[in-house]
Amino acid sequence: MHQIWMVALLSWSLLVCWGTSRHQRSSDCKSGWFGSTCQFKCRCRLKVCDNEGLCLNSDRCLGGWFGPACQYADLAYETAALKPVTDGDDTTCISDTSVNSISIQLRGYYIISWVRVFVSTPGYLHNLRFTVGHNGTYGNCTQLSIYAPDETTRDLECDFKGLVNSIAIAGVGMSYLCSLHVSGGRNVALKQKTEQSSVYSENSISYTSDFAVDGNTDRNLYEDLCAHTDINVWPQWVVKLSSPKIVNRYVIHNRDGNPEVTARLKGFRLASYDQLNRPVFIYTDVQPTTQQIYTIVHADLGIGSVEIFTASKQLPLTLCEVEIYGDSNCTSEYYGFECQKKCNCYFQDTCFVRTGGCLKGCATGYMGEDCNTICPLGRFGNDCKFSCSQYCVQNNQSIRTCKHLTGDCLRGCQLGYQPPTCMSACGPGKFGTGCSKHCSPACRSPPGNKNNTCDVLNGTCLYGCDAGYDGPSCSTSCQPNHYGDKCKFFCSRGCVPSNHSSESPCHHVTGECRFGCDYGRNGTRCELVVRPTTEKQNLALSTKYIVTASILSMACVMLMLVAAMFCVQRPSTLKSFEESISSDLSKE
Ligand SMILES: *[C@@H]1O[C@H](CO)[C@@H](O)[C@H](O)[C@H]1NC(C)=O
Ligand SMILES: *[C@@H]1O[C@H](CO)[C@@H](O)[C@H](O)[C@H]1NC(C)=O
Ligand SMILES: *[C@@H]1O[C@H](CO)[C@@H](O)[C@H](O)[C@H]1NC(C)=O
Ligand SMILES: *[C@@H]1O[C@H](CO)[C@@H](O)[C@H](O)[C@H]1NC(C)=O
Repeated sequence: MHQIWMVALLSWSLLVCWGTSRHQRSSDCKSGWFGSTCQFKCRCRLKVCDNEGLCLNSDRCLGGWFGPACQYADLAYETAALKPVTDGDDTTCISDTSVNSISIQLRGYYIISWVRVFVSTPGYLHNLRFTVGHNGTYGNCTQLSIYAPDETTRDLECDFKGLVNSIAIAGVGMSYLCSLHVSGGRNVALKQKTEQSSVYSENSISYTSDFAVDGNTDRNLYEDLCAHTDINVWPQWVVKLSSPKIVNRYVIHNRDGNPEVTARLKGFRLASYDQLNRPVFIYTDVQPTTQQIYTIVHADLGIGSVEIFTASKQLPLTLCEVEIYGDSNCTSEYYGFECQKKCNCYFQDTCFVRTGGCLKGCATGYMGEDCNTICPLGRFGNDCKFSCSQYCVQNNQSIRTCKHLTGDCLRGCQLGYQPPTCMSACGPGKFGTGCSKHCSPACRSPPGNKNNTCDVLNGTCLYGCDAGYDGPSCSTSCQPNHYGDKCKFFCSRGCVPSNHSSESPCHHVTGECRFGCDYGRNGTRCELVVRPTTEKQNLALSTKYIVTASILSMACVMLMLVAAMFCVQRPSTLKSFEESISSDLSKE
């Protein structure tokens, strides 16, 4: 018995642990990190993000970062251009109608994947042009895709894949520009799996390979911790990306310290491998002096892992941070840092892999940068630009709510309006809640219209009643003893009355007598007087007399004939015969 309880308790606590750890996974990250495996660094100024990397309390991205979850490096940040535009602050803007193009000289040569412009005033961002510059010569993008996350923001994606060191954007909106961000990709090496050939230890601290992808780019080995191998043969460090990414830039942070230790990195080699582990890029440092930060750029390549070696097989390898810039390589319907989000574009268009943005707008009923935000309450349709009908019933916060796709009112229509969208009044012949009631068939039709018409709210007939009907909605027949148009006629006095006093003697529409006419009356409504009643009776009486007299006189004649015959032949029976005749006569 005791053991059963133990087992039950154990499995219960296991279940609880499992449940809570699953539940807490995404919010369990150390402060300043987010993502399904806490692999993304919060790039907000206050270093506090929500689970999606969004800055809280109207905080904004740290200088030098922009875009979804502030994960994109901004190559334009603090470059020598108009300061309000490159200061990383969306609230500082230019307002100068003479400005119709902005060009930015970058700090080096880069592969530019996209650019975001943000203006202070909606309505100006059109006819945008994007040119890329290489050492002073400019070229147009052969294909320019422009996405509109909102009214004042545009994301421009240029198909130019070569190295550029300047860009220029032209268009009316440049007069009101607040920010121009040039994407240098996002760091896809952060918190990825790493290995190194050996691990250096000092004062019981192990300088393991993961310190090179911990998001800390400071270069003090002892304070900020860096990856550091022991002295062994061909020291080597490797990062394996969780999934192949499209990469075009590496930034390697050397340690600081005396020239002897910093120079250990001089002449290093870097090799990149594709998803099948084939080498696709090899670089050897040939710079004459030791650098604090090395930047290596190549055209877009699909990369699965990157290795770094020292130049000499006797020098230890120290890497304070290795940043690998690029982006996801999602299939056409997906986007996001891990290609985990589905595009939601109008007509199932493919979306912009960086943001989920759509060229032709969001799927019906959705809005927002990535088109995954359902229209706010009270709005629906393409770009959420329609308001729910003003005849939708309001919710308890006085908002008229409807389905974000169709505009069907969630709480039904106000009295007299046609479900499901409540955009119009009840159709012909209908009224009431949900237009579910029919106007009385006795409502008169308007001229030139065959439908009987009544008030959409209460069913009152708008053109009066057909003959024989009464009341505001013409739903009752005329009062007893009345009939016809507006019930203004009385039943004929010639109609035979009903046995029940409440029953009308005539039909409420036609006035036809229901129980026939009185004597001397005729016609459908017994309106015709045939002859006075007394004359008729006299006629009947006199006819009776004439008939009776004729019969009697004929009988007398026959009697006399018979009597004459008897007198001649049988005088003895005459008396009794005479008696029987007289009794017959008295019967008559
Ligand atoms: C840029 O042009 C200068 C001369 O105008 C030349 O020396 C330099 O090599 C060029 N750089 C590139 C990357 O083409
Ligand atoms: C870029 O396009 C614009 C307008 O289409 C044109 O005026 C300009 O000459 C082009 N520039 C280059 C370098 O091709
Ligand atoms: C992106 O992924 C697709 C499909 O996996 C692959 O064919 C393509 O080569 C990849 N792109 C790059 C630049 O590696
Ligand atoms: C409005 O209704 C919702 C759910 O129908 C409820 O949660 C909320 O408390 C209500 N608000 C008010 C102010 O009644």
